[in-house]
Amino acid sequence: MLELDQVESGYGETMVTHGVSLAIAPAQTHAVLGRNGVGKTTTLKTVAGQITPRAGTIRLGGTNIHHLPAHAIARLGIAYVPETRDVFGALTVRENLKLAGRLAKPGSGWTIDDTIAFFPNLANRLDHGGHQLSGGEQQMLAIGRALMTDPDILILDEPTEGLAPIIIEQIFEKLTELKSRGMTILLVEQNLHFALGLADQVSLMSRGQIVWQGLPEDLKTDQAAQARWLGV
Ligand SMILES: Nc1ncnc2c1ncn2[C@@H]1O[C@H](COP(=O)(O)OP(=O)(O)OP(=O)(O)O)[C@@H](O)[C@H]1O
Ligand SMILES: [Mg+2]
Repeated sequence: MLELDQVESGYGETMVTHGVSLAIAPAQTHAVLGRNGVGKTTTLKTVAGQITPRAGTIRLGGTNIHHLPAHAIARLGIAYVPETRDVFGALTVRENLKLAGRLAKPGSGWTIDDTIAFFPNLANRLDHGGHQLSGGEQQMLAIGRALMTDPDILILDEPTEGLAPIIIEQIFEKLTELKSRGMTILLVEQNLHFALGLADQVSLMSRGQIVWQGLPEDLKTDQAAQARWLGV
């Protein structure tokens, strides 16, 4: 469904990824893990169109998309939830959701009511400003905004970062529910337990390259790979 082939990207003269290849199958969750600074976020930004790759191809359903700007990629059904969550603090929860919904195709499966039903924690917060939300509520709103674009693929960068265990558990349940509804997910995550619980496929990155690929159960038993590539 989504294929990266030998993608090289970075910032200005500095190349960060050196030939990243990934294949994400429909309705599957693919987790990309690795130590700090290895190029995970850069890879996600490149898929989302925030960085144009220097070399390589990114294909969605067989069509090249790597030359397209971020808004065009969003319209093709790829929603990106950055690590920074990018909730509009000065807008209410409802306004945040409404704005995101403008990217949806006509007849979107996700209205504001659907999104609130999916994240009931946001129901009492609809008229609150984004800046008034807790970290967990902001993450739910960030994912809710992504859903409002009616995506086929959800890209998540460290969705559990800074959240309390109980909130992490809620996010886990919600992503599991999205998976069961057929959502394709590309996940970068530091929480190994969380990532391995959701993923169907795992890729480990080091210094801008994919160094290990396999099933979550393979990584669970591969202590050497965990130690070498994740520092676990
Ligand atoms: N905007 C930027 N301009 C220049 N260099 C950057 C920029 N963002 C990241 N880098 C550099 O690119 C490299 C990879 O960063 P990236 O954010 O992709 O890593 P990461 O794997 O997501 O790390 P982390 O686990 O800390 O989130 C790092 O050396 C980082 O310093
Ligand atoms: Mg990162």
